[in-house]
Amino acid sequence: MRTQVAIVGAGPAGLMLSHLLHLQGVESVVIDTRSRQEIEQTVRAGVLEQGTVDLLVDTGLGDRLKAEGAEHHGIGLRFAGRSRRIDLHGLTGRAVTVYAQHEVLKDLIGARLAVGGSLLFEVSDVTVEDVTGDRPRVRFSRDGTEQVLHGDVVVGCDGSQTSCRRLIPEGTVRTDFFRQYPFAWFGILAEAPPSSKELIYAHHERGFALLSTRSPQVQRMYFQVDPADSVDHWSDDRIWHELTARVAGDDVQVTEGPIFQRSILQFRSFVCEPMQYGRLFLAGDAAHTVPPTGAKGMNLAIADVHLLSRALASFFRTRSTELLEAYTGTALRRVWRAQHFSYWMTSMLHRFSGATDFDLRRQLAELEAVTGSESGSRMLAENYVGLPLP
Ligand code: PHB
Repeated sequence: MRTQVAIVGAGPAGLMLSHLLHLQGVESVVIDTRSRQEIEQTVRAGVLEQGTVDLLVDTGLGDRLKAEGAEHHGIGLRFAGRSRRIDLHGLTGRAVTVYAQHEVLKDLIGARLAVGGSLLFEVSDVTVEDVTGDRPRVRFSRDGTEQVLHGDVVVGCDGSQTSCRRLIPEGTVRTDFFRQYPFAWFGILAEAPPSSKELIYAHHERGFALLSTRSPQVQRMYFQVDPADSVDHWSDDRIWHELTARVAGDDVQVTEGPIFQRSILQFRSFVCEPMQYGRLFLAGDAAHTVPPTGAKGMNLAIADVHLLSRALASFFRTRSTELLEAYTGTALRRVWRAQHFSYWMTSMLHRFSGATDFDLRRQLAELEAVTGSESGSRMLAENYVGLPLP
């Protein structure tokens, strides 16, 4: 098999890259070890930046997003027993849209297949070869037969457990920047009406909590737990009790309902530099991971491939490698801004183990500073709705 761009991984980065390349007349093949069903059903993030929404709409993926996504013009930060609203729209003229990642993936898969795009699911034994030459290959098995996909370039969009990243020699070429956080999120999906019209991020001495949503009938909620905790330790009663203790007050009630999904998410910040090695490029979680507090993960993946698709299109048009060589530098500036924002939101809102009363008071003062001044709120709002795409 031969194509222009061989894409490893059918998540947001890989599928969106394939879609954007197609619109610019560049061929690609996307492979993934998972089944289409697994990709379309795995619950992940749900907040799209304005730039992500605009790009999806402008490239023909807006129908369900517009009908089913909910535009949010503000978020609440809750601390010291009361909520303060950050007026995202008033401060920036922009908004975010709540629309689940796996819905974006369904839209992308549908759009690729509708134009005859090549998506190969459930492949195994994937190995990428010869990325430092000019004829890189991807080998894999499908239905028991070995296949070789030749491309002009290979893009690793294979998530945080990436094998593509490991092809970049560590130490001599690649540097990994890593930070583990001493907490995790317990996440649930519950059949219930929303507790609040807008997302609420809550600071509490028992630990952080977040009320998010998926639809008028389904709510997504999280609360900070120890990374060693297990979902088996939490009965439904205990979950509702904990969420209520951390978020509820005279002005907010946590609406309860049957919990139909529960999991624990670990927290990490990670960046790999560079994001290119010869004819191999990395995009999305294969190159970087953010903690979920800033809701940046999928948005960063989309921003990466927006940039990369234009660089690749220019390469195939003119054979100039100028934009491809600029990819790492341009993408990493945004990645590090998102790392900073996610780290900042995380450390402002979570309880660190061993935190003293001093630490809690200092966090409250920081929350006062951010919510109590227009410049503080604007700094949060600009980052939350997302920096403009170049
Ligand atoms: C979510 O709805 O899954 C969500 C929302 C906001 C975040 C993180 C996750 O910051």
